[in-house]
Amino acid sequence: MCGIVGYIGKKRTSKLLLNCLRKLEYRGYDSAGIAVFAGGELKVVKCKGRLASLEEKLCGESLDGTMGIGHTRWATHGEPSDVNSHPHLSRSGNIAVVHNGIIENYMKLKEFLLQRGYEFVSDTDTEVVAHLVEYHYKGDLVQAVTATINELEGSYALGVICKNNPEEFVAARKDSPLIVGLGEGENFIASDIPAILEYTRDIYILEDKEVAALRKDQVKVFDSHGIEVKKNIFHVSWDVTAAEKSGYEHFMLKEMHEEPKVLKDTINPRIKDGLVELDNIKISTEDLKNIDKIFIVACGTACHAGVVGKYIIERLARIPVEVDVASEFRYRDPLINDRNLVIIISQSGETIDTLFALRESKKKGARVLAVVNVVGSSIAREADDVLYTWAGPEIAVASTKAYNTQLAAIYMIALDLAYKKGSIDIETYKKTVEGLKDTPRALEKVLSDKDAVQKFAAQHYNAKSIFFIGRGLDYALSMEGSLKLKEISYIHSEAYAGGELKHGTIALIEKGTLVICPMTQDYLMEKMLSNIKEVKARGAVVLAITQQKNIEEVEKAADVVIPIPDVDSLIAPIVAVTPMQLFAYYVAVQKGCDVDKPRNLAKSVTVE
Ligand code: G6P
Repeated sequence: MCGIVGYIGKKRTSKLLLNCLRKLEYRGYDSAGIAVFAGGELKVVKCKGRLASLEEKLCGESLDGTMGIGHTRWATHGEPSDVNSHPHLSRSGNIAVVHNGIIENYMKLKEFLLQRGYEFVSDTDTEVVAHLVEYHYKGDLVQAVTATINELEGSYALGVICKNNPEEFVAARKDSPLIVGLGEGENFIASDIPAILEYTRDIYILEDKEVAALRKDQVKVFDSHGIEVKKNIFHVSWDVTAAEKSGYEHFMLKEMHEEPKVLKDTINPRIKDGLVELDNIKISTEDLKNIDKIFIVACGTACHAGVVGKYIIERLARIPVEVDVASEFRYRDPLINDRNLVIIISQSGETIDTLFALRESKKKGARVLAVVNVVGSSIAREADDVLYTWAGPEIAVASTKAYNTQLAAIYMIALDLAYKKGSIDIETYKKTVEGLKDTPRALEKVLSDKDAVQKFAAQHYNAKSIFFIGRGLDYALSMEGSLKLKEISYIHSEAYAGGELKHGTIALIEKGTLVICPMTQDYLMEKMLSNIKEVKARGAVVLAITQQKNIEEVEKAADVVIPIPDVDSLIAPIVAVTPMQLFAYYVAVQKGCDVDKPRNLAKSVTVE
């Protein structure tokens, strides 16, 4: 949510900043802007709209200095407009600031600054930071930024440059991610690793309330009292091509095609001699005796992975599981204690609602296990235990491959708990482990049959409303299928439990309404067939997704059936979600939507 970058060195600054921002546009695309120190002047160019608009505006203008900051915005305070775009300038125009996060006490600070003659030109919370840094500036930018952040409440990742400090710029963070990239004769800041990976693989991960002072050949980091902190270098091992489209039309399509590989990466190293081994997570049989309840807390797609997790953990490990959206969990004074395990799921590891839920859980004494994709992210650093999903960088705003790997991780957790608790028979254990290992092969097949999904999408992209219904694990899956569709195609969609539809929502089914039914649970097949008949009797058109072996039976009820390979019912969600992701994708493409950057959304949501 908002991307920031900063650079000091000898390269052509504006070009470099734009290049970095291009990799951060998934964090917001309401406006873009840069500030560059060039020829003794601080020059700012910014405008509403995507990065392409900024590039157009810059055309011909040379902003090649020695340092600069850049921003791509997801609007919170103030509508998307030129004036609300970052960077924001201080009163004198000597200080420029880019910000990601929300300054919660900005009204109070604004009042304070107004009384001292500062004038505000934008509706943003960020502008107070620019003025406040100027207010505190007595010739030392680090000191001025430190004094400023000590007065800020809320979340922030900040990049600050000052005309009077041509050799150095300053960055700071709290609750919003920020990294420092260490180059040779040049240094960087960025909200995320892919932005600077082309230039360096060595980074510092800034902790809350740390302040970094960047010169071209030196980086110093201080705590909020101005004491220098010794930082460890984090070396990024993955390749820059992992964050590129590699010939695919969209990142989303590329990322779906990566699902077989990333599942292998997530599952295979953790199966040893047929047993699940969860990295360094040491939840012993003894520890398990003390765990009487599990909470799974997450947002969006990750939360839907949690709903699948509830079914799987309860079924295999026989421990009660409650799933909660993080933004609700945090504020309802949840009944958690030291006998609970809290599983936090997050692709980015930076979603602020999820991060705060983690902190709330730890405060109340629960043990926190995080399922995270981004190594070194805030959630990964703060959890007691971490199980990484090895999905690689996910750039498309709508999550796909990360979801499949989150499911795989949750299945492995369930198996581990069940084995230690003795609640699973060896046959089911072995079958589930084998099933997990087989998911990449099954997904290869699903992806190679994608044309059938594309054809169906081409017939239904004009739908006004699409329903997803399922029972048991298929209900959990329906939630994700429905979210994917509405996120990127803007078609109204709802997910309902197959048996619940008739208690109200069936009133919305009329002639031609499309109903999509994942049907992968053998023991619920008969019940779902009845539910299909109910909607068909009201004129619905039904698409079912089921294992090859059920095709004949399901074809008798549904209009169209998309087959998936014959995977076990328990494992099926990991495979059956992909036809739904593909459906959403092809519908959105057919409608001409911007698949990778859907309207109003952003990835890595660092505001509450
Ligand atoms: C945003 C994204 C969703 C994502 C959710 C949770 O809302 O648009 O696609 O599922 O955040 O993100 P996380 O990084 O915590 O998994």
